[in-house]
Amino acid sequence: MGKRYDYQAIKQWVKRIYDAYGFSENDSAIIARSITATDLYGIESHGVQRLAMYDRKINAGDIKVDAVPEVICETPVSAVLDGHKGMGQLVAGKAMRLAIEKAEQSGVGIVSVRHSNHYGMAGYYAKMASDKGMVGISATNSNPFLIPTYATQPFLGSNPLAFSMPAQPHSFLFDAATTVVSLGKIEVYAKRGKTVPGAWAVDESNEISKDAKKLRKNLSAAPKIGGMLPVGGKGEKNGGYKGFGNALIVEILTSILSQGHLSADLGSGTVKGISHFFTAIDLHLFGDPGEISESLSVMLERIRNLPAETGEKIYIHGDKEAAAFEDRLKNGILIDSETVKEMAEISEQLHIPYQMYL
Ligand SMILES: NC(=O)c1ccc[n+]([C@@H]2O[C@H](COP(=O)([O-])OP(=O)(O)OC[C@H]3O[C@@H](n4cnc5c(N)ncnc54)[C@H](O)[C@@H]3O)[C@@H](O)[C@H]2O)c1
Repeated sequence: MGKRYDYQAIKQWVKRIYDAYGFSENDSAIIARSITATDLYGIESHGVQRLAMYDRKINAGDIKVDAVPEVICETPVSAVLDGHKGMGQLVAGKAMRLAIEKAEQSGVGIVSVRHSNHYGMAGYYAKMASDKGMVGISATNSNPFLIPTYATQPFLGSNPLAFSMPAQPHSFLFDAATTVVSLGKIEVYAKRGKTVPGAWAVDESNEISKDAKKLRKNLSAAPKIGGMLPVGGKGEKNGGYKGFGNALIVEILTSILSQGHLSADLGSGTVKGISHFFTAIDLHLFGDPGEISESLSVMLERIRNLPAETGEKIYIHGDKEAAAFEDRLKNGILIDSETVKEMAEISEQLHIPYQMYL
């Protein structure tokens, strides 16, 4: 299953790994913070679980250690950034910081990014803006996983969209894929030897499968075998075309706006480079930020206090992550044994001692 590990120790371990790849001290620290913060939020699909994938991409030269992201065009409120195949966490962090700077100067900052890499948790970057008292939006395309309604092969990415805004007792944070779940969640179920609980993906016969190991294998193949269903599921009955539409909006904001590569063209062959989209909005554009945030907090509390189904609790998006953050900071982050083994193998290849972090 999994065990709890001290957050600070794991962050230090991840930083050592990135130092050893040749990233600067500062960049390794940014990467380690972003990856392990994801585990603190309880999003085990996109934290250290992803180190093995990043390791493969660094070794293959798909992630360039020495890349310097470049602003291609810019206005006071917008920019297009070329990530030059840098580490997604670094490119995305730079792009969101640029969007925040523009919002500080001009009220709003919108940055579209091409030729980056997998950036992990979309909400991490949206939250960078809400931590500064702003609205933050973050989205990314990915390898092709999502099967458009009635198609029999994937075309769009799992294309997550995150939105964050300051509120009490913690920021509102919606952060989710436009497929039913992210691929990472299927990977976690496969690593834990469990079947997936819902209708998340279809196999080679276009039939819904719950076999996590088979789905992980099929979805890691190039080209993909089967694919993931959009939010709303297969066909039209439960509105699958809406998840498909949301994924298409993310694709437009990311690869089309930045003139990068479509999700459909990634994941096999030589076309490489993920696209992202970031927005920061200063609440002063609309009035007093404190009053606006207070209205949001009051509304969210009204929802939390609605009558609930017997034995159930009503959550607002971000509630589970805020609770997980507190818990993991105190009691450690949860890592499955297969991921610890992968981290140990990476460390051995890089000649890093790691026993002291376990
Ligand atoms: N980089 C990439 O290519 C990529 C691709 C897909 C997903 N992701 C990331 O993977 C992570 C997980 O995505 P996912 O789609 O599996 O997420 P998910 O299905 O677990 O949904 C998470 C969202 O739903 C909210 N939530 C959960 N239960 C709730 C409830 N009962 N009521 C109200 N809100 C509730 C959470 O607070 C969160 O905002 C995200 O951080 C996402 O950004 C990244």
